[in-house]
Amino acid sequence: MVACSVGLLTRLSLRVQRSQVQHPLRRLLSCPGTVAADLRREEQSSGSAETGSEDRTPKKRFSEVQNERREQAQRTVLIHCPDKINEKKFLKFLSQHGPINSHFFYESFGLYAAVEFCQKESVTSLQNITRTPSLGPEAAIPFKSRYLNLKLRNSLNQTSELSSIQCSNQSSPSSKKLYQLLCCAESVDDQLNTLLREFQLTEENTRLRYLTCSLIEDVAAAYFPDCAVRPFGSSVNSFGKLGCDLDMFLDLDEIGKFTAQKTSGNFLMEFQVKNVPSERVATQKILSVIGECLDQFGPGCVGVQRILNARCPLVRFSHQASGFQCDLTTNNRIALKSSELLYMYGALDSRVRALVFSVRCWARAHSLTSSIPGAWITNFSLTMMVIFFLQRRSPPILPTLDYLKTLADAEDKCIIEGHNCTFVGDLNRIKPSRNTETLELLLKEFFEYFGNFAFNKNSINIRQGREQNKPESSPLHIQNPFETSLNVSKNVSQSQLQKFVDLARESAWILHQEGKDRPSPSSNQPWGLAALLLPSVANNMSLSKKKKKPASERIKNLLDSIKSSGAENSTATNGRRAISTQA
Ligand code: CTP
Ligand code: MG
Repeated sequence: MVACSVGLLTRLSLRVQRSQVQHPLRRLLSCPGTVAADLRREEQSSGSAETGSEDRTPKKRFSEVQNERREQAQRTVLIHCPDKINEKKFLKFLSQHGPINSHFFYESFGLYAAVEFCQKESVTSLQNITRTPSLGPEAAIPFKSRYLNLKLRNSLNQTSELSSIQCSNQSSPSSKKLYQLLCCAESVDDQLNTLLREFQLTEENTRLRYLTCSLIEDVAAAYFPDCAVRPFGSSVNSFGKLGCDLDMFLDLDEIGKFTAQKTSGNFLMEFQVKNVPSERVATQKILSVIGECLDQFGPGCVGVQRILNARCPLVRFSHQASGFQCDLTTNNRIALKSSELLYMYGALDSRVRALVFSVRCWARAHSLTSSIPGAWITNFSLTMMVIFFLQRRSPPILPTLDYLKTLADAEDKCIIEGHNCTFVGDLNRIKPSRNTETLELLLKEFFEYFGNFAFNKNSINIRQGREQNKPESSPLHIQNPFETSLNVSKNVSQSQLQKFVDLARESAWILHQEGKDRPSPSSNQPWGLAALLLPSVANNMSLSKKKKKPASERIKNLLDSIKSSGAENSTATNGRRAISTQA
């Protein structure tokens, strides 16, 4: 079916002028999205710090991005609107409460508007004229939040003024559209960048994630007034795909900070508190109450589950208004730190995100990953594998975590629960890589590398950037970067790992064959990344070729040919491959 839709499009004649290695930053800036948007804004700001020889654009720290977006979310309200609305009048009505900085509409089982005021006071002013609905026979719990409902008075009189609203897109493209886009691309590199552009979180989706956290923070603040609810994981580490879950961290440490500042003189005042046997029990009790609160009072929070006996206790729920599946945890600060680390890796070189997105989409397309927890590999593990692979290139595309630690200053020092989580927070202190390999080459070599990795004896370790002996017998061992005794992929079974290895080998082979005989534009066949993402097509292609040679021979031939092309130092093939400058 997809092959047919692909056939509707003629490939651009430009395809003969295959990819050039673009400057990493220029490539990144051509993709509208969160990190790219932040970097674009940064470009205009002053205060440039000394960076490596190539890239002198100042980049924001993770904590700066988090703080700015959190503050922005606190000035924002979420409004459920009638399906048709007069936008101009709507904004005029709201601006009685103060100037509006930005707004956008989106659809999620109804029309919603996220409206950001310039000042927080405007939100309070709007809340002051907002009433609690009277529901007839039902009763409302009068919880006042920033999630509001707009009703039209005399809607019949206004019909002529109402119009449909331009909505911001919150979902990833359909498979059909994606394959069309991929097949129209100019090169495999262009395909990877297209995939990134289509799947990465948009500016609006990112705002909605921070806003949702901020709304949940308001509920938790009823008990813990100085708490913060911070997004972590793929919502903020720059590897999030549209539709990914929203991981939230209920940060109660802010409370301690405020208290510490207020102490003075010889007296030390402490709150009377209840003691519980352990940190874990405290976490469980807090989450249990917040979960109950979200369930009973939290506007738009449905399907609340309290999963308190998990290794990391959590409250899981759906936030109806935003459409996000949310996981709320507390006492999970290390995960926030690993999100910061991944954010740094994602911002260091634009090829990182493009490669991670492609590998994540490839794994999803082949059912290697799933939204249901189980023995499969996770997106987090896949990201760690890509980072490790990029640390192993020559010259390396990404630095090791140990190296990032050597660049840290006093401000970066961070010990969490006895684990040293120190690494440099200022991206501008890290020199850009001299490696100029194309995405096409990297994707092929990623599959090749992990298709032949000695998983039975080696562990993946991004702290040192080299393979290490496995400390335990799990089929796949990826060391947690901060809690080094933990394996982030402990859940992965031998059969799932084998499936990953088999598919990686097949994919390396498909890409390699493609480099030699790409299907002609008239053949209506998906090519490059499109062929890899479509399991049935990929299977058909490999099956038809399997008839020619046994798998072992094909793999051997592949390895031989890759070795020999490596010896030629990756000179251009079909005019597509840019030069690999191995220094
Ligand atoms: N995490 C971890 N160790 C694990 C699993 C998760 O440290 N074994 C941390 C990581 O920081 C991860 C975050 O928890 O980014 C959220 O986990 P998860 O939602 O599983 O992964 P994401 O990176 O958010 O990816 P996805 O898009 O699949 O949600
Ligand atoms: Mg997640």
